[in-house]
Amino acid sequence: MSKRFYITTAIDYVNGLPHLGHAYEKVITDVIARARRAMGEGAFFLTGLDEHGQKVQQAAVADGKSPQAYCDELAAIWKTFLGRLNVSNDDFIRTTDPRHKSLVQAMLAKLHAQGDIYQASYSGFYSAKEETFLTEKDRRPNGTFDPSWGEVVKLAEDNYYFKMGQHQAWLIDHIEKNLGFVQPDYRHNEVLGFLRSEPLQDLCITRPAARLSWGIPLPFNPAFVTYVWFDALSNYITSPGSLGDPTVLGALDPNSAFRVPHSESELWPADIHVIGKDIVKFHAVYWPIMLKAAGLPLPKQVLVHGWWQKDGAKMSKSTGNVVDPVAVIDEWGVDAFRYYVVRELDIGPDGNWTDAGFQARYSAELANGLGNLVNRSLSMLKRYRRGVVPARSDELASEVGRAVDEAGAHLKANQLQAALVSIWTIVTRANLYVEQTKPFNLAKNPAQSKRLDDVLYNLAETCRILAVLLWPFVPASAEKIFGQLGLAESPKRLALASWGGLVAGHVIGEPVPLFPRKDQPKQ
Ligand code: MSP
Repeated sequence: MSKRFYITTAIDYVNGLPHLGHAYEKVITDVIARARRAMGEGAFFLTGLDEHGQKVQQAAVADGKSPQAYCDELAAIWKTFLGRLNVSNDDFIRTTDPRHKSLVQAMLAKLHAQGDIYQASYSGFYSAKEETFLTEKDRRPNGTFDPSWGEVVKLAEDNYYFKMGQHQAWLIDHIEKNLGFVQPDYRHNEVLGFLRSEPLQDLCITRPAARLSWGIPLPFNPAFVTYVWFDALSNYITSPGSLGDPTVLGALDPNSAFRVPHSESELWPADIHVIGKDIVKFHAVYWPIMLKAAGLPLPKQVLVHGWWQKDGAKMSKSTGNVVDPVAVIDEWGVDAFRYYVVRELDIGPDGNWTDAGFQARYSAELANGLGNLVNRSLSMLKRYRRGVVPARSDELASEVGRAVDEAGAHLKANQLQAALVSIWTIVTRANLYVEQTKPFNLAKNPAQSKRLDDVLYNLAETCRILAVLLWPFVPASAEKIFGQLGLAESPKRLALASWGGLVAGHVIGEPVPLFPRKDQPKQ
């Protein structure tokens, strides 16, 4: 076997409930993973949870639970959430998994043995709320710290540091030579700007266990635990490593008797890390340096999405300005949610959720657009031809073919919004075709029987191809379209999107509205 396409999301902080931002990241990653699988690449999709750190420890204590019990309860909620989003991840990594901890320790041991990690004492201002040391640069002009840092205390402590300085030059060079390494382009420029502007400081990668016990102990000094980012970023290699990825095991665990390299688990390096704009530096600067130091190849791309707001303002639980994806899915269905977030927001800029905007797209594009097209096409085939597919006709073939090519090219370039726009040219064209050809009038005139056959074939075949193109985006609806067409196979192979798949004499199934108009009862 050769290396599989490997895509990841950020791992979410376990202490907090899933919101629109988390849902968006999972959905776009899922669409890319499904599209790659549809194109015949064996894509592997990893997501998971970031479970260590002070906030989790404190919340567990406040709840009267052990941190592990607290995390286990929340992890169950997050897993259910992924199911509600119909996300097709192949693995779910938790930073409290023993498989994760052992490989993080192997990496720490290697870096320490090589002299990349050293101990030093540091004194400075510390924000417990943000779990970070602050510098003079974080002070306001009047010398105080912004209240968003919470209480800021003076703290002096020993910690371990990861050497960064010697990595700056090659990383700049790598990013300059690989425009695709950080995408979109403006994020690439932002990272280069940061790297060129100042010398990289060594990274503090521990906390004393006496102050923070909820973390992975350093293998060479258990009085310290790994601080969250070193722990969290490593998830991208600990999952493949635990599954037997030969590259990861070769670098971190060459002599293990327990983890046997499996050629089906050839995943590393990752093809795409999908992340939000707030964590670019960790992924495009710290992570490549950690990997290089550990002797591992770099990921091919960090793909950065923007942040959602609601009604033009930051989402915040305290003000109640939130979108609850599960409530939206309960009311409108998972595919309406998936469609909206991908269609509304290109991967890159920030987006704004409004309920009115969501409902407008639902009504115009899903209920009256796609849903209406499929329902009337199949209902007419049922009514006028008892559901029997007539002889092939190619009237819409070239227009549909053009949109298929366009959508395929966009999918290869991870341009999901553009792919949907291309796909919708078919929806619009086919709905217009119904208005122009008026099959309901043709049906009244026996002399137009051949013409009616042609129109009905073109419509049914267009619906079939739409299902194939739409499968990565709205898999359940795509499967339903195939079911209603009476096709036993699944629409999950892009190769099926070539004209002429429906054969004369095939009998379709029952048409059922896919996206009921809101004044109608839900299916
Ligand atoms: N645990 C870290 C990531 C470690 S990855 C090795 C973290 N977790 S998070 O739960 O705060 O965020 C998870 C992802 O959700 C991040 O990519 C973040 O950018 C994204 N989003 C959080 N809020 C968001 C929006 N409002 N909109 C879109 N995405 C957002 O950071």
